[in-house]
Amino acid sequence: MILALETSCDDTCAAVVTQDGEIRSNVISSQGVHDRYGGVVPEVASRHHLELIGPVVDDALAQAGISLPELDAIAVTQGPGLVGALLVGVSTAKALAAAHRLPLIPVDHLHGHVAASFLKPSEFEPPFLILIASGGHTLLAHVRDHGPDWEVLGATHDDAAGEAFDKGARMLGLGYPGGPALQRLAEDGDPEAFAFPTAQQVPGLDFSFSGLKTALLYKLRELGEEETERRRADLAASYQRAIVETLARRVERALETDPALPQRLALGGGVAANGPLRERMRGLGVAIDIPPIQLCTDNAAMIASAARHLPALPFPQYAALDAYATGERGL
Ligand code: KG4
Ligand code: ZN
Repeated sequence: MILALETSCDDTCAAVVTQDGEIRSNVISSQGVHDRYGGVVPEVASRHHLELIGPVVDDALAQAGISLPELDAIAVTQGPGLVGALLVGVSTAKALAAAHRLPLIPVDHLHGHVAASFLKPSEFEPPFLILIASGGHTLLAHVRDHGPDWEVLGATHDDAAGEAFDKGARMLGLGYPGGPALQRLAEDGDPEAFAFPTAQQVPGLDFSFSGLKTALLYKLRELGEEETERRRADLAASYQRAIVETLARRVERALETDPALPQRLALGGGVAANGPLRERMRGLGVAIDIPPIQLCTDNAAMIASAARHLPALPFPQYAALDAYATGERGL
């Protein structure tokens, strides 16, 4: 049984997972305090992690009905993410592991998103392609096995897909996080009303969302306040469609241009909660895995899942282990 901690951004998470991928508990404490600033404030996130990590770990252990000495190992997100936030998880994990002479397993956050698909109930087995789209990352990767050496096929040149949702939502006067609010507003709109760019000029399998953001800004200026107000739902629907198409066409391009790639696709990251994106991806005609939403957004069960396929550092080899803000792949 593995206890995992995840504190890379603004969710304080702990989970207990068995060696064969069964989730015994998956506790997520979303801080909520960042909404008033319109985004995550790193220093505020670190302070809240400090307050929440103890109770969140206790909850995860209690729900799983296990005590610390009974664990096989403790896993923790080492990076990438906000370094102050990561440090809370890393130091807590080191302290808990050392106190009980347990091994420690450092995990890359993105390997965690990949490993969410390995968990029960989906147990989606590699090889597959994965599209990870969240507020912090947007990438398409080829996952050959359970290990950390999956290959990045394309990544964003600028904003992440979730950031594009959040920034568009803010321009339309919606709160943070903008994705769910924008999706709701878009339900009453026409996705064909405005033709926003879908970054087709970006070469290969990379993504870009900055042109789209600018296009919305110019459209709002052109329409003026009154007309914008009247057409908010159309604007939201058209903007959402452009994000969905930017993502979907890259996956289509990958599947078409390289027949050697697996015709299987997993989705991860908070943007995977988006209804029209799920629908569009389901229409691609390949085997698809979309884990339950609490496993798509940041959580510790996915970190424990990745840890099952990584070497453990025995006590006390992890004493000097540090967090990293940016990963080896520069993501
Ligand atoms: O994975 P996540 O919870 O946190 C990280 O950023 O790592 O993703 C959060 C992002 C936010 O940008 C949020 O606006 C977006 O996911 N999001 C959505 C939806 N739900 C969350 N975007 C579009 N439609 C949604 N239903
Ligand atoms: Zn994430």
